[in-house]
Amino acid sequence: MNVYDSGRMADVLAPLGYAPTATPDDADMVILNTCHIRDKAAEKVFSELGRLRVVKQARQDAGQPTILAVAGCVAQAEGAEIMARAPYVDIVLGPQTYHRLPEMVARAARAGGGVIETDFPAEAKFDHLPDSATPQGVTAFLTVQEGCDKFCSFCVVPYTRGVEASRPAAAVIAEARRLVAQGAREITLLGQNVNAWHGDAPGDAPMGGAWTFGRLLRALAEVPGLLRLRYTTSHPRDMADDLIEAHRDVPQLMPFLHLPVQSGSDRILAAMNRRHTVDDYLRLVGRLRTARPDLAFSSDFIVGHPGETDADFAATLDLVRRVGFAQAFCFKYSSRPGTPAAGAPLQVAEPVKDARLQTLLALLREQQAAFNERSRGLVLPVLFIGPGRRPGQLSGRSPFLQPVHVDGPISMIGQVAPVTILDGRPNSLAGTLNLEQICA
Ligand code: 5AD
Ligand code: SF4
Repeated sequence: MNVYDSGRMADVLAPLGYAPTATPDDADMVILNTCHIRDKAAEKVFSELGRLRVVKQARQDAGQPTILAVAGCVAQAEGAEIMARAPYVDIVLGPQTYHRLPEMVARAARAGGGVIETDFPAEAKFDHLPDSATPQGVTAFLTVQEGCDKFCSFCVVPYTRGVEASRPAAAVIAEARRLVAQGAREITLLGQNVNAWHGDAPGDAPMGGAWTFGRLLRALAEVPGLLRLRYTTSHPRDMADDLIEAHRDVPQLMPFLHLPVQSGSDRILAAMNRRHTVDDYLRLVGRLRTARPDLAFSSDFIVGHPGETDADFAATLDLVRRVGFAQAFCFKYSSRPGTPAAGAPLQVAEPVKDARLQTLLALLREQQAAFNERSRGLVLPVLFIGPGRRPGQLSGRSPFLQPVHVDGPISMIGQVAPVTILDGRPNSLAGTLNLEQICA
């Protein structure tokens, strides 16, 4: 989502004459767009600011002032601390205030810095942002929903991004059409809790009324030229029946679903306030697989949540074995200030977290490698997104989000073509273009 947000900040700044530069040394303004989800990400901000201070000073000495801004969730959560620890920062702005950037830049220039905007304004950001204008390429992101009402015990998102808010269907469809006109063939709908999206239908009654996320996907599938749809990140509790049916009925919806489970222990899921059990998750996976038999799953896991015992961790390994993931992310629990888990008793020792992470990573890597290996010999439709590393090589994506490399002409970029997979590596596939099938 920060990649998408950075693009929208570029859109809002373009009318003021700003354009992206290759390095901070050439920039009249630098915006650090930051993430607060885990401590490591948040720490990076201060080390990066130390480096930018040197750049800003060097430019200042050469008579070129630089505006330094910190955006994103670290800005939201630690705005005052940033200004105190790094007083050379001119602007601190939270994720709900990007539409006010031009005014902040003017204020910072007048006052010589000191601008903090971290409230949740009454006006909706998206109503005040210009239309997305910067082309993203063959694959594009589109934010449809922000914030979250789930309040998982460990998570800062409800505090930094705020409560759940959905963009209207008409705005989403219009943006999808614009992205396709700019060359997008695959759109990934984004939201912290994307399948909680709900909105007003475009048009009047009898079409009007509340739309579900499944209905939105069906409408987007009708946008001409849009070949592929994906969405991330979903909560298991919000996989409504009509969304599962969309996986059965909508061919543009790719058979790959990121569905975080976080833990395989009911005790820990309850402590996490996840509002689902292991059995709920397994049943959901079963229903989705019935709807779309080739659906591949990805997930997020946290190891070492307060109270997690060896038996709880063993239950997570068991769930992973039962589901079989094509890909997954796992993280060591990171205490986030202000969240309920941060003050919980029975914090897990760091070496125990490290050991569990390595064990889980090994199992997930094994599953990913096996999934890729099973692709060998298959003919997969691949969307080509750009040139590969070697001359004459193309880089694309399988329906299951695997990177695929083939030799082929640059003219294939933006097209979907059948590829015979010759090699299934741990992190990517290699194959050959089936040119006779394309001609046929
Ligand atoms: N510690 C570790 N991982 C976390 N995540 C969210 N909060 C924390 C935390 N405090 C992980 C979850 C989530 C993903 C985006 O980040 O697994 O799904
Ligand atoms: Fe955070 Fe996701 Fe839980 Fe919302 S559902 S609180 S974003 S982990």
